[in-house]
Amino acid sequence: MTTRVLQKGRLQPAVEKILTEEFAAHRLADEADPAAFLAQRGGEFPVLVTTARFGADAALMAAMPALKAICSFGVGYDTIDIDEARRRGIVVSNTPDVLNDCVADLAIGMLIDAARGLSASERYLRRGDWLRAPYPLQTRVSGKRLGILGLGRIGRMIARRASGFDMEIRYHNRRSVADVDFAYEPTVTGLAKWADFLVVASAGGAETRHLVSREVLDALGPAGFVINISRGSVIDENALVEALVQKRIAGAALDVFEFEPKVPEALLALDNVVLLPHVGSATHETRQAMADLVLANLRSYRDSGKLLTPVA
Ligand code: 8YV
Repeated sequence: MTTRVLQKGRLQPAVEKILTEEFAAHRLADEADPAAFLAQRGGEFPVLVTTARFGADAALMAAMPALKAICSFGVGYDTIDIDEARRRGIVVSNTPDVLNDCVADLAIGMLIDAARGLSASERYLRRGDWLRAPYPLQTRVSGKRLGILGLGRIGRMIARRASGFDMEIRYHNRRSVADVDFAYEPTVTGLAKWADFLVVASAGGAETRHLVSREVLDALGPAGFVINISRGSVIDENALVEALVQKRIAGAALDVFEFEPKVPEALLALDNVVLLPHVGSATHETRQAMADLVLANLRSYRDSGKLLTPVA
């Protein structure tokens, strides 16, 4: 089976070397005019390697009439038009599980940062403000109520870590999960009303768009914090900015935004929000594991016509 690969978006140099040597990969990013290249040679590639950031839309699939498989780097696939892929008989893989630990670690770090003011108090010290007055008291984490929106693979890892902080845990999913002891909240608003900390860990895409609305933020209330490690689209970003500016919630910690890498200007001046540049999976170890899984999917597809971690 031919597995000539077109690569969209850049990956680690060592991985790109393997893609070139083993799969004769062609990098779209190297083309001065990617659209012209696709129009001329898009039909040569049965396999596309992409990333969660760059995805693959219906127009790209149309420009690649020989396309049979898409292997994506990243667990989220909201940037890939899965319906169109299905319609065209294109199989799609992502990189689940290998990043759960790092993303969950970061979620807990962000939660503690938001509550205890790690980043803000460090800025305070660097500004020399400590010489004038002690840093104001902040919010306790241990023993508090943690609401998890999206108890999937990553949500469960966050819950496991939070249990170590004696946090009480509830969650909201489309449906309740059979094999956990945590209480299920049938609505996002109900979960937010109950929680001290609302962690967003659901998948992105049309179904979860703006699930965290103005109403949900107001249910969380002036003592509540929201932490987002999934996709910016799950939160109504304008409503969040307003709630933070008006202190209708206590604070937030955000690793993802609606229009990355753009971050709302109004947030940059606020001390009650922790802002990170989408680094949930960004460790040497995890990015290597993700790359290994992309390569394993490619090899499996080449050798057997089957992907190892197909998207459901
Ligand atoms: C990466 C991610 O930043 O896995 C995901 O869905 O959002 C992150 O791990 C992304 O894959 C890089 O494109």
